[in-house]
Amino acid sequence: MGQSFWKQFHLALTLLLLDLGSAVTGDATPSCYGIPGLPGLPGVPGRDGRDGLKGAKGEPGPKGMKGESGSPGLPGKTGPTGPPGLPGDPGMMGKAGEPGIPGSYKQKHQSAFSVTRQTSEHPLKNVPVVFNHVITNTNHDYNTTTGKFTCKIPGLYYFVFHTSQTSNLCVILYKNEIKMANFCDHNTNTMQVSSGGILLRLDAGNQVWLTVNDYSGMVGISNSDSVFSGFLLFPD
Ligand SMILES: *[C@@H]1O[C@H](CO)[C@@H](O)[C@H](O)[C@H]1NC(C)=O
Repeated sequence: MGQSFWKQFHLALTLLLLDLGSAVTGDATPSCYGIPGLPGLPGVPGRDGRDGLKGAKGEPGPKGMKGESGSPGLPGKTGPTGPPGLPGDPGMMGKAGEPGIPGSYKQKHQSAFSVTRQTSEHPLKNVPVVFNHVITNTNHDYNTTTGKFTCKIPGLYYFVFHTSQTSNLCVILYKNEIKMANFCDHNTNTMQVSSGGILLRLDAGNQVWLTVNDYSGMVGISNSDSVFSGFLLFPD
């Protein structure tokens, strides 16, 4: 529809109104067309229309240039301790050490004594004969005060005596108050030697000693010794 349509439409409407006006006035005179009036003044602008529909998305803009790198941040906090690592390889074999000191087996199992009685007086009867001079006495197993040997290492022991005598002599060997052996020699010369020996199985703490009885002629003088000896033969 072009502009001419609207002109024609406007014109027709004007004519109709004029005709209608004459009808209302009741003018009986035959109507005739008068001179068209002047065009009216333009109307006031209409109100704004409603918002149109949203337009389609535009094309992406050109890509921007890459910015410069920022300054490095502060170091972060220390993280938690990690799990332990696998064991390392074994180290190289070390150098051989110095030879050790000799073992103590033999030392621990040594017991031997040889003691002499150095006096011209005869010993008292029925009490341990005291051999007061030490020749050998490992670990002080023989006590030169009491005259008794005390076993520290259990095992088989050998005891032996060689006594010089100037009168009749009986030597009795005791093990813990029990007579184990009795050796008597009646003097036939001014000086003679008697002896005796015995093997005894001893436990730790057992004691062994010699006594004399009424025949107590034992002496220990120059060139006439009286010797009591004992030693461990086999430890248990
Ligand atoms: C010998 O025995 C006495 C009396 O029992 C004791 O006093 C002394 O210490 C003992 N000696 C040794 C070396 O054991």
